[in-house]
Amino acid sequence: MGIRSTARRHALALALLGVAALLTTIGAHAERPVGKAGKDWGDPAGEACVTCHASQNPGLYWEWNRSQHGQRGVNCLDCHRADAKDKDGFQHHGFRVSIIVSPKDCSRCHVKEFDEMDGSHHSKGGEILASLDNLLGEVVGGPAAVNAGCHQCHGAEIEIGTDGKPTPQTWPNTGIGRINPDGSKGSCTACHARHRFSKAQARTPDTCGKCHVGPDHPQIEVYNESKHGILYRAKVDEMQLDSDKWVAGVDYFAAPTCATCHMSASPGEGPTHNVGERISWTLRPAISKRINLVKLDNGDEFDVPEGEPLPKVGDKQKGAKVTEVLSWEQRRSKMANICRACHTAGVVEGHYRQFDDVVDLYNEKFAKPIAAIMADLEKSGTITKAPFDEKIEWIWWEIWHHEGRRARHGASMSGPDYTWWHGLYEVAKHTYFEFIPELKEVAGAAEANRLLGEHFKPIAGHDWYFSGLNKDQIEKVRKGYEERYGKGALK
Ligand code: HEC
Ligand code: HEC
Ligand code: HEC
Ligand code: HEC
Ligand code: HEC
Ligand code: HEC
Ligand code: HEC
Ligand code: HEC
Repeated sequence: MGIRSTARRHALALALLGVAALLTTIGAHAERPVGKAGKDWGDPAGEACVTCHASQNPGLYWEWNRSQHGQRGVNCLDCHRADAKDKDGFQHHGFRVSIIVSPKDCSRCHVKEFDEMDGSHHSKGGEILASLDNLLGEVVGGPAAVNAGCHQCHGAEIEIGTDGKPTPQTWPNTGIGRINPDGSKGSCTACHARHRFSKAQARTPDTCGKCHVGPDHPQIEVYNESKHGILYRAKVDEMQLDSDKWVAGVDYFAAPTCATCHMSASPGEGPTHNVGERISWTLRPAISKRINLVKLDNGDEFDVPEGEPLPKVGDKQKGAKVTEVLSWEQRRSKMANICRACHTAGVVEGHYRQFDDVVDLYNEKFAKPIAAIMADLEKSGTITKAPFDEKIEWIWWEIWHHEGRRARHGASMSGPDYTWWHGLYEVAKHTYFEFIPELKEVAGAAEANRLLGEHFKPIAGHDWYFSGLNKDQIEKVRKGYEERYGKGALK
């Protein structure tokens, strides 16, 4: 009982704070859940769950107790209740409950967040079966690694056993694009850890860094290296992460986090749970493309690369009606609306200029000619159609999937070490000193030289490779070294 009266005291204190907050934030408000306390949630029957679990699982109970849900009377039963038709339901102390609480369950009260996330790349993150990465994981690696590796980031397809509970092979899992027993996709808990479900926690960069990390997408490392990351850590106590609406340039100024740029609000831009909305390139494939976004009336959406035919609002696409088309320029200007909370136009334009130039350099000088040669090798039968059974395929894979992505990600979010040393430096080294030698090995010197003549030679950036380094350039470097380190410094 003592425990529950604590919950009530908290509720009262918070209710008072809530009134104070309302009075000071008229005009700009955070998104409120749909429904009413006591009517749409707070079923008194749920008290039984609370009382028993407070002693059974005190850690879980206290996190819930301190959450907004606990304080506003959203109880265990409101989230864990299961209908008779839910295949993940089971009888439990007189109630039908389910362990899985899917985005669809959350949408009973948070429909805006659900709708925004539902069509996005995040909720589709579990659809990775038909990818090179998956072939690599399943076959070259092994299924156990896919399960405890890939699926923990991307999301597993949850299977339900005969007891109505998720199978141990597929759960625990809170991957971003989890495929849920009720057919909904994604996992809200991927970012809002249970049972606090806090937006303050979701705004921290580490939340995203669980998945956006590592050799093929080092966004957290890039961010940590950037001035933004440095300032976030230095001034984290000024970030007002607990603020209700958290508008950049109004509620905080010290630095942006991942959420600031990809999800949260600025004076010129509303918040969104669709992380793709403010992106103008896709940096994931071997060759990057600028992407337009098409949204449909069934909640789905898809990217259309620049240059391909773009439907109009009202057109039929994939069995649904187009409700909105965002060009890549519009997506970019949404991002710029965030930057503009803290920067002048010149900084934003300059940033995008430097970023675009890196993507173009990577695309034009390295990715396109190598991809063209790989296609020729496959067509001529010099290599098999099967991926990953030849060394040259691994070399190219690492050039685009690891090093080339790092370069592009570094440039997109101001991480210079990733743009160069972990990025284009590696791309260049492996192009000239792994890819080309291996090409000569598999195709023979004469055919390799023909292919290089056709695909590499016309590109000015490769002149140094074919004609040697320019004498004046070498002389300039020699002089520079001698001035700094003495005669004979450059051997
Ligand atoms: C009389 C005590 C009691 C009541 C009432 C009760 N539970 Fe439980 N519940 C338990 C115990 C004990 C476990 C197992 C805990 C463990 O393994 O640590 C459990 C497990 C669970 C699980 C996980 C099931 C699993 O197999 O892993 C969920 C979800 C759950 N309870 C939700 C609820 C909800 C929702 C309610 C109210 C509708 C509720 N419980 C009511 C005692 C209770
Ligand atoms: C806002 C919705 C929400 C509320 C309220 C809520 N839960 Fe949960 N609970 C979840 C989610 C989400 C999960 C993760 C399950 C999944 O993977 O989908 C979870 C998982 C669990 C689990 C199994 C995993 C574990 O960590 O042991 C238990 C047991 C559980 N909840 C019990 C409770 C109890 C007891 C209460 C009330 C004190 C409660 N929940 C309140 C959403 C909620
Ligand atoms: C039955 C209704 C209901 C359900 C179901 C529900 N919520 Fe909530 N949620 C609320 C209410 C009420 C609040 C408090 C809002 C307020 O007071 O402004 C809230 C607040 C929140 C907040 C803000 C909390 C904070 O500390 O910043 C988050 C995040 C959230 N919910 C996520 C979820 C997620 C994720 C799920 C599903 C696992 C979920 N909710 C399920 C009603 C619900
Ligand atoms: C640490 C978490 C993590 C692990 C482990 C992981 N991924 Fe990913 N994966 C991501 C993230 C994050 C992205 C998106 C990166 C970006 O947008 O730059 C991604 C991107 C992808 C893509 C590209 C999707 C697209 O739309 O182009 C595929 C395919 C993929 N992963 C498959 C896999 C497979 C298969 C495995 C295991 C063999 C795996 N991933 C392991 C986090 C992970
Ligand atoms: C990629 C991480 C991520 C995922 C996944 C995610 N959220 Fe959030 N959520 C956030 C962030 C970040 C915020 C704070 C946004 C802001 O600053 O305006 C937030 C805020 C919220 C809020 C508070 C809104 C407000 O204006 O007060 C609710 C409610 C919420 N999320 C519900 C959900 C639900 C429901 C889902 C699943 C459908 C979900 N979230 C999935 C990151 C996430
Ligand atoms: C200062 C704003 C800013 C911050 C902070 C920021 N990003 Fe980004 N992010 C960008 C911009 C700008 C792009 C490139 C957008 C474009 O394509 O036009 C981008 C691109 C991305 C992409 C797309 C990559 C791809 O493969 O297509 C991902 C994923 C991403 N960011 C995740 C993150 C994560 C995770 C964090 C935090 C660790 C973060 N971002 C921090 C601005 C930011
Ligand atoms: C549990 C893992 C996970 C977490 C946590 C996560 N992401 Fe992602 N994210 C992914 C995966 C996987 C993809 C690629 C999905 C795909 O394209 O199939 C992705 C894609 C993205 C994209 C590219 C979207 C697009 O349309 O191209 C952005 C931007 C992004 N995430 C930002 C964030 C931010 C910001 C956060 C934290 C607030 C975050 N993510 C948290 C796994 C995660
Ligand atoms: C919440 C405020 C905030 C937001 C939003 C923000 N920045 Fe910053 N940014 C800063 C601060 C503060 C600095 C540090 C200024 C310095 O370099 O001394 C900074 C530094 C930079 C720098 C380095 C400048 C230099 O002189 O080294 C660049 C480039 C940059 N930001 C670009 C962007 C872009 C592009 C966006 C949007 C995608 C953005 N910023 C969003 C606050 C912000």
